[in-house]
Amino acid sequence: MRNKKVTIKLPYITEEIFIGEKMLDFVISKIKSRKYDKHVLIVDVNAKIDRVEYFNKLIKELNVVDIVILHPTPNYKSFKECEKIIKRLINVKASRNSCLISVGGGYVSDITGYVASNYMRGVDFVQISTTLMSMVDSVIGKVAINFGNNKNLLGSFYSPKYVFSDLDFLSTLKKDEKVLGLSEVWKHALIRRDDTVIKKMECYLSNFSNKSYLDFIYYSMKVKASCVAPDYNDKNGSHKALSLGHTFANFLEKKSEIRHGAAVMYGIIFVAILSKSLGKLSLKNYNQIIRTARKFEKNIGMLKNIQNDIEIEKVLDSFFSDKISEKNSLNFVLPTNFGYFIYKDVPKNCVVDALGAFKRLSL
Ligand SMILES: NC(=O)c1ccc[n+]([C@@H]2O[C@H](COP(=O)([O-])OP(=O)(O)OC[C@H]3O[C@@H](n4cnc5c(N)ncnc54)[C@H](O)[C@@H]3O)[C@@H](O)[C@H]2O)c1
Repeated sequence: MRNKKVTIKLPYITEEIFIGEKMLDFVISKIKSRKYDKHVLIVDVNAKIDRVEYFNKLIKELNVVDIVILHPTPNYKSFKECEKIIKRLINVKASRNSCLISVGGGYVSDITGYVASNYMRGVDFVQISTTLMSMVDSVIGKVAINFGNNKNLLGSFYSPKYVFSDLDFLSTLKKDEKVLGLSEVWKHALIRRDDTVIKKMECYLSNFSNKSYLDFIYYSMKVKASCVAPDYNDKNGSHKALSLGHTFANFLEKKSEIRHGAAVMYGIIFVAILSKSLGKLSLKNYNQIIRTARKFEKNIGMLKNIQNDIEIEKVLDSFFSDKISEKNSLNFVLPTNFGYFIYKDVPKNCVVDALGAFKRLSL
């Protein structure tokens, strides 16, 4: 088994991401080396099932003082969940030299990161990723929770000290969850216009061979790190590349309980339509995106429902209030023939036409 490491230097922190198999001893030794006074585990209930030995060893070797079990629900990443954890931290007298260890997918890592960034003005956290989504799109540089109907409204530019992506966790993850994780790999491959990775993904979506995980995760972490490091606080552009497909995805996630990975997949299709109509994407490259989309759709199968639910005015409202739009202009990150392009002030009629084309699309 090849093990891989991605190091990313951000202001105030160097984040290290380790990808491999059977990593428990390594995880324990890395965390121990930091000599925290207390460790608190925040664990996804489904990642814990059937892993008695793993958790017993982690708890024993690290002298874990409390274990908070989280149950991902549709209305997740709420402030209420954070409150529960904060009360538990107070209860065990967690200090500024304590460490929160999240073991779970994006849900648990975002909640843990948000609490870690606020408790006593910031304590360390470590992420043990257990879903493909969290492995390919790990917390690098930012964490967020939802507030009311607003996705990722409360958050910080904050990073775990370490991320461990132990592929053994994927053995219990449902196939559907793996497909959802792949949508972020797709986004990363489009940002870099990397046909080799796209072909590999299409193969995976047909045969689900598990040989590709390490490569997908390593590739995604390299792309994500290269976008975040020069622009950690999301001001000068490269960080924004990661929003490719997310403007439409944010609308879908606000509107319904669609999963993030599925929303991103449909978001990518929408910006491909828009990019082609704005002359930024050739017909050949657009067709290639549609070919990949077909493979996703075979597994996700929500296109018809989403098309029926689209009310153009409501989508436009959501686009105007999206993080990426500014001064009443419609901005999008588009996939292009060479990678990505941040298109500012897209004419409203072009967006409306693209929404119409999305509604008529058949895959
Ligand atoms: N901060 C960031 O950089 C960042 C990056 C990507 C995603 N996110 C956030 O992550 C969330 C989505 O994350 P996700 O897709 O990992 O979903 P998730 O954390 O909700 O996990 C998906 C499902 O898999 C289950 N599960 C987790 N690990 C398992 C395992 N090993 N075996 C079996 N089941 C397991 C969970 O209980 C859940 O039912 C979104 O809220 C998104 O905004 C944040």
